[in-house]
Amino acid sequence: MQNSIYFPPSLQRFEPKRMVFSTWVDHLCFAYDLIETLRPQITVELGVYNGLSFFTFCQSMVENDVEGVAYGIDCWEGDEHTDSYDDSIYQDVAEHARANYRGMTYLLRMFFNEALQHFETDSIDLLHIDGLHTYEAVQEDFTNWYPKVKPGGIVLFHDVMARIKDFGAWKFFEELEASHDEVFRFNHGFGLGVLRKPGGERRPSQLMDLMFSKDPEIEHRLRQLYVHAGLFIESRHKADLVRQGRKGIRLGGVGKKQPAAG
Ligand SMILES: C[S@@+](CC[C@H](N)C(=O)[O-])C[C@H]1O[C@@H](n2cnc3c(N)ncnc32)[C@H](O)[C@@H]1O
Repeated sequence: MQNSIYFPPSLQRFEPKRMVFSTWVDHLCFAYDLIETLRPQITVELGVYNGLSFFTFCQSMVENDVEGVAYGIDCWEGDEHTDSYDDSIYQDVAEHARANYRGMTYLLRMFFNEALQHFETDSIDLLHIDGLHTYEAVQEDFTNWYPKVKPGGIVLFHDVMARIKDFGAWKFFEELEASHDEVFRFNHGFGLGVLRKPGGERRPSQLMDLMFSKDPEIEHRLRQLYVHAGLFIESRHKADLVRQGRKGIRLGGVGKKQPAAG
């Protein structure tokens, strides 16, 4: 980053097609860029809820010609942190998937443990862990699903900065940071942890080089870039809301005051 300019695809062309309330809003640009560089054939998300992170992965796949499949797994009943919610959430997600990502998305409405049997060992390129955020739940999800991730695959952990209630993703990720080589953490919003499973081939990628540079200055500047990218996306969306409001059209809101929706 010191000698070269990283101009992420998200800042060049990302216009989110789906904006719904979620604390994930801070990390949309990074999610878009990660898909562009990783080019995952198999993406699995544990915890889809209203689909903000999931459909950002999907949108990036389409717009960056990534030929792959994205699996979204959720019981769509809610948990202790989101509280329970009604069936309309699932119906809305299923409709959005049908309308925009037919043939490349599969929604598995079941508990994470039930879905395990459908995935081979060492098969997943990108795993996003975003179910219940207690220490025990994150540990269980990681322990069960990590063997399914390809060597060189990426695991994302949401809410690694949320130190509220009985959230424990932060503690679990701190332990991974101490025991793994290629890890990176975004500290803004509710935090996003990134871990690369050892092994596999790493194709040339500016983003990966920056994330795993182990140079504090580079890491700091990369974090700053995505703080600003997130603010830009949010501000533009708010401006759209105001414009549409003037015309009497309602759009989905974004926000991050309630960690429950994380
Ligand atoms: C924090 S939300 C996911 C947020 C989402 N990724 C976003 O972009 O806003 C967590 C979701 O995980 C689901 N969940 C939690 N534990 C689960 C489990 N063991 N099996 C299936 N779904 C689970 C809940 O139903 C909830 O919808």
